[in-house]
Amino acid sequence: MGRFYVTTPIYYVNDVPHLGTAYTTIVTDALRRFHQLRGDETFMLTGTDEHGLKIEREAKTKGLEPKVFTDAISARFREAWPKLDIEADRFIRTTDPDHEAFVTDLWKKIEANGDLYEGEYEGWYCVGCESLKTDKELEQPGNLCPLHKSPVERVKESSYFFRLEKWQKPLLDFYARHPDFIQPESRRNEVLSFVQSGLKDLSVSRTTFSWGIPVPGNPKHVMYVWFDALSNYRSALGTGELARFWAPSAKVVHVVGKDILRFHAVFWPAFLLSAGYKEEELPDVIYAHGFLTVDGQKMGKALRNSVDPLKLAAELGPDVLRYHLLRAIAFGQDGDFDHAALLERYNADLGKNVGNLLSRVIGLCTKMTDGKHPGDDPTTDTQIEADLAQAYETNVDAARTAWDELAPHLALEHTMKLANAANLYVDRAAPWTCAKNGDTARIDKILSRLLRVLEAISVMLWPAMPTKADAMRAQLGLTPIAATAGVDVWPTAMPKIRAGVALAHAGALFPTYDEKAQKELLAKLVPKVELTEAPAPKTTAKTATATTPSTATEGDTTIAYDDFAKVDLRVGLVKTAEKVPKKDKLLRLSVDLGEAEPRTIVAGLALTFAPEALVGKKVIVVANLAPREFGSAEFDGKKVKLVSQGMLLASGPSEALRLATIDDDAPPGSRLK
Ligand code: MSP
Repeated sequence: MGRFYVTTPIYYVNDVPHLGTAYTTIVTDALRRFHQLRGDETFMLTGTDEHGLKIEREAKTKGLEPKVFTDAISARFREAWPKLDIEADRFIRTTDPDHEAFVTDLWKKIEANGDLYEGEYEGWYCVGCESLKTDKELEQPGNLCPLHKSPVERVKESSYFFRLEKWQKPLLDFYARHPDFIQPESRRNEVLSFVQSGLKDLSVSRTTFSWGIPVPGNPKHVMYVWFDALSNYRSALGTGELARFWAPSAKVVHVVGKDILRFHAVFWPAFLLSAGYKEEELPDVIYAHGFLTVDGQKMGKALRNSVDPLKLAAELGPDVLRYHLLRAIAFGQDGDFDHAALLERYNADLGKNVGNLLSRVIGLCTKMTDGKHPGDDPTTDTQIEADLAQAYETNVDAARTAWDELAPHLALEHTMKLANAANLYVDRAAPWTCAKNGDTARIDKILSRLLRVLEAISVMLWPAMPTKADAMRAQLGLTPIAATAGVDVWPTAMPKIRAGVALAHAGALFPTYDEKAQKELLAKLVPKVELTEAPAPKTTAKTATATTPSTATEGDTTIAYDDFAKVDLRVGLVKTAEKVPKKDKLLRLSVDLGEAEPRTIVAGLALTFAPEALVGKKVIVVANLAPREFGSAEFDGKKVKLVSQGMLLASGPSEALRLATIDDDAPPGSRLK
């Protein structure tokens, strides 16, 4: 048992909380709760990153003073997290006076150590990243930031520089001595090769705007927003009592998205070392997780706004959202948040596995043990008890290791395995047959074992689902989890026998959604946002099938990239649309694909769309599909052959189609990739 300090990135206030930021914050909260269970003394930090050009501009467009603007958005974050059962110990703002004082002091230390000098910077700046970009990093044409896909700005101004180059070797030595510092492994390798390829001194102040912490002794400059922001992890603890969470004996973990790993794994330790912190005073782990897509689509601004984690939590309960995010996404990898999969997983893992186990066991106890925990007799175990004990030991152990190793998805997988084993035990032990034989000792044994396993499961679920875990405990007649530093309550041996404790059945803990309820929920929850990209293969979109043979093996549903590349998907602009006489389903469209002439496309859209509703829409067209004939029809008294020179992408039944479309500024003819 020790000290555990875990942080989220501090979020920019140019955006409100969304599923991506909720994901990071939920994982962080769950990790901290796990350590609370282990008896560690813990501290969790989150907050908002409020300075810098991006925020100054955003405030200006709203006609607000930056501080007024940041007060309002910061409050949105502060109020959001408790609604997801996230309990941070401090919500830091980079406009907090103690933070500003700390950063000023850090700057002075670095300056005193000779690592800052004045110079002139000229180069490219991405305001979205709040970061300078090298020529090599930019995407052409258009000098685009590879992350934001928007043009960078040319910057030329005087600036303070941090001697980052000087820290290249010490950083590499540090990484070598601390192989766990950057996780997961693949990300570590990326950072290593970045640092090995050579570090350049870093511009750490700006003079062309004023929304930042002034550089001590030269207030024409404000500090670079990342210098200011990264310091929050240390400033939040101050120099008093809380500084114990930064002591070498404390474990310090920064959870970040992969997009901001470099700042954390390179700049942050370099700043700290330069300010005089010793290697053992650097954070222990920078863990870079992957990015979420939603229903197969990248979370662009529109989607971000419409997949509101607070709405999901209000509809399903925060626990269900937390569980799904933690269980469905392999932490560290990119993952998809799929609404339908969420409901399926809820039904399977929570409804039919854990929830069913709980109601089965409580139901049996109501009938057979007066609704109370029975006693147990450990001396007459049979093979099935041995199997249950084995499953218990393996899974509580594996789940603990997984949480410890920052793998919540695996920890929850093992928790579910244990519930599964217990359900199997109910079937095999069949206490109802013992009731027929009047074998009460055996009944007691079976039900006691099950209740004890359920108790362990309630603890194991708590980091992910604190409210539901406590509700489960209430049904088991147990008090809510009250983690105490110094007391490790993670299950090891089976929990003790609680003979005589009354159970409190309170209905299904996880009522399952039937098909109708699932449909209704999906209709409510799935964002009504037009697709901005070609959907991932698992969606129901009608996609073109290439006629050339696939290199994929039979039974394998994946295709090689080369196969995909053969499909020519293009942006089309619908110029005209009309019904096809005597063909109820068909519309004839002319679609501009950026070619000399618009193409004629015949499509089965008429049951959903009035022709005029389609004119002016941007659609996605499979442009290299062999022309297809739809018989003939009479237009203006003339009989013509109906030949379609392409296919539109759409999803859903004929009467309720949704067209795949794209952002308005995509020119007709542009290729999707
Ligand atoms: N202010 C900086 C961080 C400074 S930390 C000293 C910043 N803020 S941010 O508001 O842009 O938040 C970025 C973080 O949000 C990512 O690192 C990640 O943790 C989370 N996510 C944002 N979009 C996400 C997804 N689509 N998927 C998963 N996480 C995402 O960068």
